[in-house]
Amino acid sequence: MAKLKWWQTAVFYQIYPRSFADGNDDGIGDFKGITEKLDYLVNLGIDAIWLSPHFPSPNWDCGYDISDYTNVAPEYGTLEDFKTFLKESHKRNIRVILDLVLNHTSDEHPWFLESKSSRDNPKADWYVWVDTPPNNWQSCFDGDAWIYVPERGQYYYHYFMKQQPDLNWHNPEVKQAMWDAVRFWLDLGVDGYRLDAIGTIFEDPNLTPHEVPMTLAELRRFTELAETAEDKQLAEKHWKSMFKNQFGQAGLHELMKELRSIIDEYEGDRMLVGEDENIDYMGNGNDELHLVFNFPLADTNRITPEHIRRNQVERLSRLSQLPMGGWACNTLSNHDRSRIYTNYGDKHHDAELARLNAALSLTLLGTPFLYNGEEIGMTDYLLPHISQVKDTMGSWYYHTIVTEMGVDPEEAMFRTAEMTRDKNRTPMHWSNKPNAGFSPDGVTTWLPINPNYKDGINVREQELNPDSLLNYYKHLLKVRRETAALIEGKYLPLHETSQEYFAFLRSSENQLALIVLNYSEKRLNLDFSDTSEVSGRKLHTLFSSGVRSRVDHTPNKLTIAPFEVFIAEVKP
Ligand code: NOJ
Repeated sequence: MAKLKWWQTAVFYQIYPRSFADGNDDGIGDFKGITEKLDYLVNLGIDAIWLSPHFPSPNWDCGYDISDYTNVAPEYGTLEDFKTFLKESHKRNIRVILDLVLNHTSDEHPWFLESKSSRDNPKADWYVWVDTPPNNWQSCFDGDAWIYVPERGQYYYHYFMKQQPDLNWHNPEVKQAMWDAVRFWLDLGVDGYRLDAIGTIFEDPNLTPHEVPMTLAELRRFTELAETAEDKQLAEKHWKSMFKNQFGQAGLHELMKELRSIIDEYEGDRMLVGEDENIDYMGNGNDELHLVFNFPLADTNRITPEHIRRNQVERLSRLSQLPMGGWACNTLSNHDRSRIYTNYGDKHHDAELARLNAALSLTLLGTPFLYNGEEIGMTDYLLPHISQVKDTMGSWYYHTIVTEMGVDPEEAMFRTAEMTRDKNRTPMHWSNKPNAGFSPDGVTTWLPINPNYKDGINVREQELNPDSLLNYYKHLLKVRRETAALIEGKYLPLHETSQEYFAFLRSSENQLALIVLNYSEKRLNLDFSDTSEVSGRKLHTLFSSGVRSRVDHTPNKLTIAPFEVFIAEVKP
């Protein structure tokens, strides 16, 4: 594995700081809490942490509205607490990458406060200002994209919430200021960055209007109510079209190259992963981003063998076309998406499917990113009351559809609970004690705790249960770490017409692994003797979610239990 970089062999674990561990008993996660849980992460078997924003923020977008790029949110601790966390992580061979939000700042950031104060202050041109709204652009979170500021008698542009004004990246001073912040954390020793929303950094210079005959709220509502295939297709078309002039515009490649050259000045293979699925942002494979996420794999409610195969063909062939080669990066959930258990479940076999999909992300070619809480099977939690909603895009939607569209509040609440990202951001369940052991009994946590922590969905109980999902993850991560083929091996799909199971080989110089993921409730009798790499050899079991009486099997008579995950080394 000598040729591979650390970020190619690592398994990343995303920590959402507000919800991970509360070290000072105030109902909000913090660095003290995270640092205390590092040994838990060592035990779990991950190699790197992606930390969602930990900077000071008024929290209109839960930390993605930053008011100081070189400090720590007081509720999470101090800069010293951050340094301790970083040192303790590195001591345990865990790398740490931070979240870098380039597109926008908070409207309370001193840069914006100065910029909005007059038309001729030194930062007057740091954001995107116009005299009158030049078009019908929408923000993707809260409607109209242009907001009036009386001090300037002008409007600023925002792609996300109105409290998140877009920076003007054509201004070299903006770049300089942001690159200084980037260096600040690199100098402290962080191992790289996850780049937030890069696609939104530049806008169409002609400010071309969109052609969707709806506002954001109307489109959202239309999508919710769409029942016929025709309406569903139309909704999809509108979503693509509404933001096309505000997304993926010229200038991004140059910017990514510039950022990459800063990263490359530092020792230790610092890395960049873009919150985008577009492989173009990897440049020639060595001059822009190191990784982009394979979101198309996750963008479905039902993961099927066919979906996976199609996805792998597309992604891997595109990556291999990069002049310097490209590395894949797979993830099934994060703080913006439904939980794996909920999203890919079928209501009957959710537990089995969660295990299969965990195995999928840990055995496919590429760097896996796991989201905190998936390892214990946390589920989405639909908030019952609007007063509990913290995700401002949710409360904005609720109030808009109730007041402007006359939607019944009960229905509006249900829709809001489904669309808000609060549902997948609730505090981590550490035990079955009150407040799930996240905070002491009686403390009000920042978001309600999902009551199902009492049903075994918590770390403590799962640690004690050898059959738990947590121990399943630990076991899988260990097998992955010890099996070179699973990390560096080429991907070779097998039995490509099967609807029931997904079978593939991972083949490295000295090792061959066969993986079978049975997505069906049928017992399968499989024969791999038609595969030259496998024929006449033995299948030595490395991992099975089923009960196997023998360790070695022959490829022509392989029985796979319903929903089984089977991983074997192919041996002479
Ligand atoms: C993507 C982040 O993942 C999301 O949580 C955030 O709301 C937007 N970018 C805006 O920063």
